[in-house]
Amino acid sequence: MAAGSFRRSIASQLSKVLDLPPENLIKSISAVPVSKKRHVADFQLSIASIIENSSGDGLAQDLHLQAQQLAERLKCDSVVSAISAGPGTVNFTINRELLAKTVLQQVWKDGSEYGVKSELFSTVPRQKAVIEFSSPNIAKKFHIGHLRSTMVGNFIANLKVALGHEVVRINYLGDWGMQFGLLGVGFQSFGNKEKLKSSPLQHLFEVYVQINQAAEDENIKKLAKDFFRKLEEHDEQTLSIWKQFRDLSIEEYIRIYKRLGVHFDEYSGESFYQEKAQEVLKMLEDKGLLQKTIKGTGIVDLSEKKDLSTFSTVMRSDGTSLYITRDLAAAIDRMNKHSWDTMIYVTDKSQSNHFQHLFQILKLMGYDWAERCQHVSFGLVQGMKTRRGEVIFLEDVLNEVRSRMLQNMTSTKTTKEIQDPVETAEKVGLAALIIQDFRGLLSSDYQFSWDRALQSRGDTGVFLQYTYARLHSLEQMHGNAELTDVNVSCLQEPDAISVLQHLLRYDEVLYRSSQDLQPKHIVSYLLTLSHLAAVAHKTLPVKGSAPAVAQARLCLFHAARSVLANGMKLLGITPVTQM
Ligand code: ARG
Repeated sequence: MAAGSFRRSIASQLSKVLDLPPENLIKSISAVPVSKKRHVADFQLSIASIIENSSGDGLAQDLHLQAQQLAERLKCDSVVSAISAGPGTVNFTINRELLAKTVLQQVWKDGSEYGVKSELFSTVPRQKAVIEFSSPNIAKKFHIGHLRSTMVGNFIANLKVALGHEVVRINYLGDWGMQFGLLGVGFQSFGNKEKLKSSPLQHLFEVYVQINQAAEDENIKKLAKDFFRKLEEHDEQTLSIWKQFRDLSIEEYIRIYKRLGVHFDEYSGESFYQEKAQEVLKMLEDKGLLQKTIKGTGIVDLSEKKDLSTFSTVMRSDGTSLYITRDLAAAIDRMNKHSWDTMIYVTDKSQSNHFQHLFQILKLMGYDWAERCQHVSFGLVQGMKTRRGEVIFLEDVLNEVRSRMLQNMTSTKTTKEIQDPVETAEKVGLAALIIQDFRGLLSSDYQFSWDRALQSRGDTGVFLQYTYARLHSLEQMHGNAELTDVNVSCLQEPDAISVLQHLLRYDEVLYRSSQDLQPKHIVSYLLTLSHLAAVAHKTLPVKGSAPAVAQARLCLFHAARSVLANGMKLLGITPVTQM
């Protein structure tokens, strides 16, 4: 890793002066972010962090003075060409030609693995992660929360895979419950076999809406209850109807997720845990954790003082299980099946309490691994509407973003030369959705806006795609860059250095996102990369430059494009080569 070799070299000099092992110093040395104000230093050592690392005393001392004293004791060498002190930091400037050479070589050599091989990750053990996300409910609305869960879960899975972890992607479908009782009855009056085959999600939803209206009638309610009871009793004919609804729905989900570039290793929904939930109730009883209320429901006391000040209901009075009971069964089953190291659930924050209770009960049951379960929650999104109205299906969103993007592209007349404008519009539109969603902290709520998301300028996914496509066509036009004979002394303009400095930081950004699972670090990194590349594209022309200069610049742009693509793919975006 480019940044790594520099960090190591700086750390080894520091270690002699400070008499600390270099490994302890490496994480205190970070690449300086490229801001609007240009800076010359490439790395900085934070004095505060090494004081914490060493003795802990001296915190009261003036950090600036310490930085100055330390800087004076360090010497430039073949790697570091300048050392200075800042407020609480010692700043290092890397030899300019070495910087260009090392960064370009590394990006070239590592390709899609650039940044992930960094020693920042060397102490992170390889793990197996189960990631559960999306999880819509059959015959019900696929709401924006499901969309967010799909995008966030996919990002986390991509990131983990890129960092060398093993990942199991699970879609925990809402495929059980009273809605199937209603559907079963509703289908008899409102169902159509052809429609069920051709567009199951839409048709089942329509049937569900119709039967819900009809279910005011007590007779219908009773029929639905009977249907669901037969389902729970595994009546063969009833089950086969349910199975048909489920199978056809999954088939269609798979097709639509594909448009998003998302796939799952398992579709195991609530139905699968219906029976296992009974075993969980038995286990809770055996462990003395299940208490019966006067109403006959079963609860688990979660309070510290065992005074029932907080509790969770796990059983209905008729002995059937609840949402949380099925989740308990699912967690235990997944541990048995996958022996995972961490399990992540991705849903909106309204379910935070549910997951807290889930993890607490698992712990009470004696499963220490409950501590390795994590709920990644996100905020609410308001105002996502399509031209036809409310969003009901995932496909509505995908079609809407595609048609809006296509319209924008047609009005700017960029579609003419594009081979497949519809597909391009879809990929660019998806980038727009993803970036709008990932720009802030996941926990924050935001107001959705098609116009804001689809702007071609500013910090949008469209801008990322546009930059990528421009860099791609630059290479198409001038032939591919060759790294072997690049003359790095041709890359000394400030705009070239800024791009190189920014490329140096990629591993730190990946590290941050891998720690807090927030995509926003990568998003803002890629937006900055695109801005820097756009500036360099303007000020450092390839066309008309002397061959050595042109070649060096092509290499620089190639490196920028390569890292841009890597980051975009992690976020779930497919880069387009034309737009
Ligand atoms: N199907 C649920 C819903 O739409 C989400 C499932 C979340 N995952 C879980 N293990 N409970 O709200």
